[in-house]
Amino acid sequence: MTTSTGTETGAESLAGVLLAADEPFAHRACPHLAPPRDPSPVRRVRTPAGDQAWLVTGHAEVRELLRDERIGRSHPDPGNRARYAGNPGYDQVTSDQHQVADALHQGLRDALKPQFAARRMQQMRPGVEAVAAELIDQLVAAGPPADLHADFSAPLVLTAIADVLGAPEAERARCVEVMSRGVAGEVAPLLGYVGELSAAKRANPDDSLISRLCATGAPDEQIGQIAMVLQFAGFGATVKQIDYGLLLLARHEADRELLRREPTRLVWAMEEMLRVAGSLSLPRYARADIEIAGETIRADDLVLLDLTLANLDGRSFDEPSRFDIGRAPNRHLTFGHGVWTCLGAPLARMLLTTAFGAILDRLPGLRPTLDAELATGDGAALSGGLPERIDVSW
Ligand code: HEM
Repeated sequence: MTTSTGTETGAESLAGVLLAADEPFAHRACPHLAPPRDPSPVRRVRTPAGDQAWLVTGHAEVRELLRDERIGRSHPDPGNRARYAGNPGYDQVTSDQHQVADALHQGLRDALKPQFAARRMQQMRPGVEAVAAELIDQLVAAGPPADLHADFSAPLVLTAIADVLGAPEAERARCVEVMSRGVAGEVAPLLGYVGELSAAKRANPDDSLISRLCATGAPDEQIGQIAMVLQFAGFGATVKQIDYGLLLLARHEADRELLRREPTRLVWAMEEMLRVAGSLSLPRYARADIEIAGETIRADDLVLLDLTLANLDGRSFDEPSRFDIGRAPNRHLTFGHGVWTCLGAPLARMLLTTAFGAILDRLPGLRPTLDAELATGDGAALSGGLPERIDVSW
């Protein structure tokens, strides 16, 4: 049995383990996915920051820990905790008090959840379809080649997030522009714009997110932070998923033809695209000793839940390396699980089905150029990064 007090020699280098973890990312747009070489579901690793951590790659174990209240995003002694990457954005903990962290987290969920209710998604769908059609019109008018990322996926997702925030139609372009700058790390324009929007919503309330937050008496600063969370958590992952999903369809021509003939299959195909794409979860810390898979995770230990490798666990998925658009059920963990489940998942799913459906309908021959294929293999998703551009033709 390994414990957090185990010696350095007992711990693998995370970089070594992630060499295996790299494969699904690198092969995301390829016909064959690679499951992890080491099947132990819970193991000690050394992080890129040089600290000790537990890496959890088993599907059942990741699910179990995501439901376990003895694990969270707080740490009693933040200055002395183990770190994943030494990256302040990714490594931050929400508090040194577990109860404060839980209250903040619940507050975020309560504020955002109603915004992504099924009824709202149904109301939003025609608008999103219209934007997708407009973007495709522009692609067709300009002719190939195009940058799928900049000319289709990114504006589609940014426009939808602007809509969730409550940017009026006439200001949509400005909101998209300040969010694009936010994505590039320039947050002041976004915060300034959200301040203006809040003032407007206080004067003329509607049912948008910002208006609802204003009604609760939330200060501008907090509203600005929530807007940034949405842009940060929602934008990159969804754009990446649209890009990679379309590259996958280009690679799997028989599946693409089947989906064109029988579009109702798209819902399941999308879940399989989500499974093979995988995703990131934030570093967490144990709040008590936890026994799992024959190991003892000690209180305050760093715990990394690998959603991507959990999606490739042969104990939970038949032939996990096979890209199977008919896979059902498909209990992938790409949106997390339990109290941590992605709040924007209903919006993401609506955007993905709309984007894939529109491209299959209008540009069925869409395919990446060679350069774009190479760009998907750079493992950038591990750090949450995106390929700079995805050149496509049709
Ligand atoms: C395909 C696209 C997406 C993927 C793969 C994805 C994935 C995830 C995952 C794995 C988490 C949990 C992270 C963790 O607990 O460590 C999460 C949380 C979250 N996501 Fe998403 N997400 C996507 C799209 C979106 C969108 C479109 C939005 C909103 C506009 C959004 C908003 C959020 C928020 C607010 C949280 C925090 C939830 C919490 O802390 O309880 N996501 N997402």
